[in-house]
Amino acid sequence: MPSSSRGPAVPSDRPSDPFSDRRAARGGRRTTRRQGGRATRQSARVDPRPEVEVELEVGPVAHGGHCVARYDGRVVFVRHTLPGERVRARVTEGGDAAKFWRADAVEILEASPDRVPSVWPEAGPGGVGGGELAHVALDAQRRWKRDVLAEQLRRLGKVDLDEVDPQVEVEGLPGDAERGGLGYRTRVDLVADGTGRAGMHRFRSHDVVALGGMPLATEDVAELAAREKVFTRTWRPGTRIELVAPVGSAPVLLVDGEPWRSGSPDQRPNARRSVTERVVLGDREHEYRVAAGGFWQVHREAPATLARAVLDGVGDVDGARVLDLYAGAGLFTSPLAAAVGTTGSVVAVEGDERAVRDARRNAHGLDRVELHHGPVEQVLADDPTGADVVVLDPPRVGAGRGVVEAVAARQPSRVVYVACDPAALARDVAYLAGHGYGLASLRAFDLFPHTHHLEAVAVLTR
Ligand SMILES: C[S@@+](CC[C@H](N)C(=O)[O-])C[C@H]1O[C@@H](n2cnc3c(N)ncnc32)[C@H](O)[C@@H]1O
Repeated sequence: MPSSSRGPAVPSDRPSDPFSDRRAARGGRRTTRRQGGRATRQSARVDPRPEVEVELEVGPVAHGGHCVARYDGRVVFVRHTLPGERVRARVTEGGDAAKFWRADAVEILEASPDRVPSVWPEAGPGGVGGGELAHVALDAQRRWKRDVLAEQLRRLGKVDLDEVDPQVEVEGLPGDAERGGLGYRTRVDLVADGTGRAGMHRFRSHDVVALGGMPLATEDVAELAAREKVFTRTWRPGTRIELVAPVGSAPVLLVDGEPWRSGSPDQRPNARRSVTERVVLGDREHEYRVAAGGFWQVHREAPATLARAVLDGVGDVDGARVLDLYAGAGLFTSPLAAAVGTTGSVVAVEGDERAVRDARRNAHGLDRVELHHGPVEQVLADDPTGADVVVLDPPRVGAGRGVVEAVAARQPSRVVYVACDPAALARDVAYLAGHGYGLASLRAFDLFPHTHHLEAVAVLTR
């Protein structure tokens, strides 16, 4: 799970800015010297502050949505470019003391064949976060993500993905090719800028960029936004606006966490704060109540895609005891309960109280499900009972060494790890290897087209 509760579109963290005075930097002189269009050696020492522009030969992709280039021996992470390109890039974070710089490609001098006109220019240089690959052809975005996944597994997990399965690709989800990778988000979070217009945060900034629409949103989200004039009315600056349009049931708009309808707060006693999500798996339809502001996979096809991959990953669990860690509202819990049959059991663990309330309701009537509310590390420490299979879907930081140890101590025959961050996955794969678990198979999914994010489902066995 990305840093926000439900997707990567709005970066909520802002790592420390190496520049103490951005305003001064903005007004700074451009002292970069050029020779035949190239910045010269001297330019590395002059005014290495934001807004300086340098010419770069762009190298390979790196985790985080950028490519790697070198300037005067220093690593520069460059966004809005592609490997093999030659670009003029504006330094956005740098400085003599900085270990590496960040830059945005602002002029493409030699373009990659994988470059396309951006499908979301507002997410381009200086724009909002959450659309950093909008200038890359969809199939090339998936190759980019595969390269990042393989590199993270190799570097942090000491695993060669080609040895596990050379065929692994980042799989597109149904409907994405037809839509050009747009229109997939069933949830969109916005915030009002200083003038009251709805928008999103500028990349690595608290500034808000006003938007006229959000091309990654589903049609239903766009309709809700139009009906409620989300992008055309004036909000109180700083207002948080959450649009939620589940697949196959009524949408909800939350404003500062409260239901909103027809242009004003919805004060009816039965105003909806949750939505109903439906997921079809084989011949079963699973229905879930989910708090409108709570966690649910954002891509309209993600819940079914991931639940199928998890069911495939666990294999035959008839009669087994399965742990479902970081269970959320129970996306995997109900299908796993069906899979373990009348003699097996599912133990689900979730830390968020609201999600646990939903999970309880969603698992109502499933007497083979045991639900625990609390931090996974604590719940596992309190009950050392073994497990045949462990499914875990941790947040972006991963499970970590402690949880991995507790999982391994239960001696499951397999671990199915759902990961939204390849670096965290790779670290946890390395910890699991220390307990005798090897990567048996892996699938990767393009759950967030036009961003650098990907989802992986890894199966580890002893
Ligand atoms: C990526 S979401 C997965 C939810 C669910 N599997 C799904 O796909 O809908 C991760 C979940 O872990 C929960 N969580 C995060 N840290 C936790 C912790 N230390 N212990 C228990 N749950 C935690 C979050 O509240 C969130 O519901």
